[in-house]
Amino acid sequence: MQRWIVTGGAGFIGSNLVRQILATRPEVEVTVYDALTYAGHRESLVDCEANPRFRFVQGDICDGPALSAAVAGAQRVYHLAAESHVDRSIHGPAEFVRTNVEGTFRVLEAVRAAKGVRLVHVSTDEVYGSLGPTGLFTEETPIDPSSPYSSSKASSDLLVQAWCRTFKIDAVITRCSNNYGPYQMPEKLIPVMVRKALAGQPLPVYGDGLNVRDWIHVDDHNRGVLLAGDKGESGRVYNLGGEAERTNLALVKRLLAHLGRPESLIAYVTDRPGHDRRYAMDITRARRELGFEPEVRFEPGLDATIDWYQQNAAWCDAVEGNASHRAHLTRNYQQR
Ligand SMILES: NC(=O)c1ccc[n+]([C@@H]2O[C@H](COP(=O)([O-])OP(=O)(O)OC[C@H]3O[C@@H](n4cnc5c(N)ncnc54)[C@H](O)[C@@H]3O)[C@@H](O)[C@H]2O)c1
Repeated sequence: MQRWIVTGGAGFIGSNLVRQILATRPEVEVTVYDALTYAGHRESLVDCEANPRFRFVQGDICDGPALSAAVAGAQRVYHLAAESHVDRSIHGPAEFVRTNVEGTFRVLEAVRAAKGVRLVHVSTDEVYGSLGPTGLFTEETPIDPSSPYSSSKASSDLLVQAWCRTFKIDAVITRCSNNYGPYQMPEKLIPVMVRKALAGQPLPVYGDGLNVRDWIHVDDHNRGVLLAGDKGESGRVYNLGGEAERTNLALVKRLLAHLGRPESLIAYVTDRPGHDRRYAMDITRARRELGFEPEVRFEPGLDATIDWYQQNAAWCDAVEGNASHRAHLTRNYQQR
């Protein structure tokens, strides 16, 4: 039996990754290592709890000794723990530097001390900055982040690269576009919009709504992350994306149509400072070297995701109950 660690496994992507590992890797025992911040929820793992191959450790990645104890004896670490929300990073960047930079440093040190551990560091296309109307990010695109969030992730990527070169740890980096799917904290675009549309409230769309994101279903992303762990070359970066570029406005209109709500609910609000205009990923390397292929088509995937949030209102209520989350939504949208 192998032992894998998933940091941030109580978050959106991490909880879906744990579910995928338990379902597809019978030879693997998974330990979630998660601090349970406002973004981490045991409720997202309820269907995993009874599995004898599942364990949960509540811990902060900045706590070196606790992290090292969890990593000792593991074969792989999937590092997803992070502060992940761009708007929050604008209101309070300190936590992003602590968790994403110092926390990743602690993860690297734990991996280095443990020996024989493969690290998969999950990062983002946002490290590349913004694209014009054409072109794609490749792994050779220079790092050029715009927000405190993306700069903290870029910093963490550089630490991983340096630990590979200097200390010869075994690590790969994945950079991914916008994920969608179940169990995403209702502060991110799709769950926010579903919740507001169902409540008949205005749907806040930043700027002119024409910012473009390249959407990928969380299950496709996690297939790529697992492939990177299986086949990735140490020290190498792999872009993962869904090849589904959509403007925010097109997405919101589709969402309203699926829910049978009027477009008059759309409310344009002052743009986010430093808002990147367009992201799009070239996934040729992941295709060629990992055999990665996104499988979920965007529109049916989006419809299924909208249905999930409608059918899982109890989960949304439970995670929205968090006081930090309510304060954030009030602060973020009242100022615009
Ligand atoms: N969501 C996306 O579209 C997207 C796209 C590309 C990359 N990513 C990256 O994927 C990873 C996961 O993103 P997500 O959307 O699931 O994030 P999330 O905010 O939903 O979850 C983050 C998890 O990390 C945990 N965490 C935060 N600080 C911690 C700490 N100090 N110690 C231990 N645990 C801590 C939280 O409790 C939570 O469970 C992040 O590294 C993010 O940068 C996300």
